[in-house]
Amino acid sequence: MSDADLWDREAETFDEAADHGLSDPACRDAWRSLLLDHLPPAPARAADLGCGTGTLALLLAEEGYAIDGVDFSPEMVRRARDKAGHVATFVEADAAEPPLAAASYDVVLCRHVLWAMPSPAAALERWIGLLAPGGRLLLVEGNWSNGAGLTAEQTVDLVRETGRDAELRRLPEQVYWGRAIDDDRYLVTSRG
Ligand SMILES: C[S@@+](CC[C@H](N)C(=O)[O-])C[C@H]1O[C@@H](n2cnc3c(N)ncnc32)[C@H](O)[C@@H]1O
Repeated sequence: MSDADLWDREAETFDEAADHGLSDPACRDAWRSLLLDHLPPAPARAADLGCGTGTLALLLAEEGYAIDGVDFSPEMVRRARDKAGHVATFVEADAAEPPLAAASYDVVLCRHVLWAMPSPAAALERWIGLLAPGGRLLLVEGNWSNGAGLTAEQTVDLVRETGRDAELRRLPEQVYWGRAIDDDRYLVTSRG
């Protein structure tokens, strides 16, 4: 079974996690505030790589951002289109090599996907290539208690190795996850 098949199987229940579906208003507001605090003002063009069911795409489209989502799971893309296809575009493709126009995005957003790239460094180089001059990179990642993920230091180093700056904001607050957490979750922002 391919990785995309595995994510297809996750799709049906994916939005049940508080941070995935953002169905709780406090959780949704927390993510909205966090992202708006770190994004350039709308209108701006953003690529959401490994967009899943399109929850963040919808959240940001509602705030006036133009979003292009990429995911290699047909079932995730189907759900993203159902949820947000009226305000955002979605393409089924490998986020390691996104079929998006180079140097044309104000933002590249990626939540919980860098860790899954076969070569995070190579993926990051491609993602940065999508950014227009002055464009911003937002990476939400974690070093999860199940052993998966990247440490904050690894992610910061990966970004800095591209020659860009990297600012770390840890996300221990329960409101983002719908429960107390005991692992390391964080946002890395790179402004240039
Ligand atoms: C943990 S989910 C995160 C979804 C979304 N970013 C969010 O935060 O709600 C990981 C997503 O990345 C997608 N994904 C993983 N590897 C990918 C790849 N190589 N290319 C495209 N999508 C990928 C999966 O299909 C899944 O939708």
